[in-house]
Amino acid sequence: MNPRVLEAINRQINSELSASYSYLAMSAYCERQKFMGAAGWLRLQSQEEHMHAMKLFDFVLARDCDVQLQAIEQPKADFKSVAEVFEKALQQEQEVSRQIDALYEVAFHEKAFSAAAELQWFLTEQVEEEKTAREIVAKFRMVGNDPASLLDLDRDLGARSASEAPVKE
Ligand code: FEO
Repeated sequence: MNPRVLEAINRQINSELSASYSYLAMSAYCERQKFMGAAGWLRLQSQEEHMHAMKLFDFVLARDCDVQLQAIEQPKADFKSVAEVFEKALQQEQEVSRQIDALYEVAFHEKAFSAAAELQWFLTEQVEEEKTAREIVAKFRMVGNDPASLLDLDRDLGARSASEAPVKE
């Protein structure tokens, strides 16, 4: 594989694993606040990010190249509220979208067509992930501090199941 593309994909594996770790920290915070629905949603999201990393990991290996795992930064674990957690989640998804766009640009520029094809999936996935996060943020802003509405929202988030957003092959 083109070395620039390989390096960029290895960096993206790290970003996806960092996102997974970050969602795990968010999940722990929500569980400590007894928002069990939000905690469950975030735990599933953490697993989804792990699958994203593995998809790129498997792609690198399938191209007979070296996976280079890098250190994962300690994630933010302290938040002001569960609403803030989801604001951060949206920002994180927006950042990942920028990274995927940049990665796609490198692949395209270097004429790495198989990598570009692999990354198509991620471009589509990011549209969905940002949309979902944006909707949840909007709901938190709408309900504000109303306890009954927050409980309802937490229940809705808890209804997410692992099979809801499967990683398509
Ligand atoms: Fe894998 Fe949510 O970005």
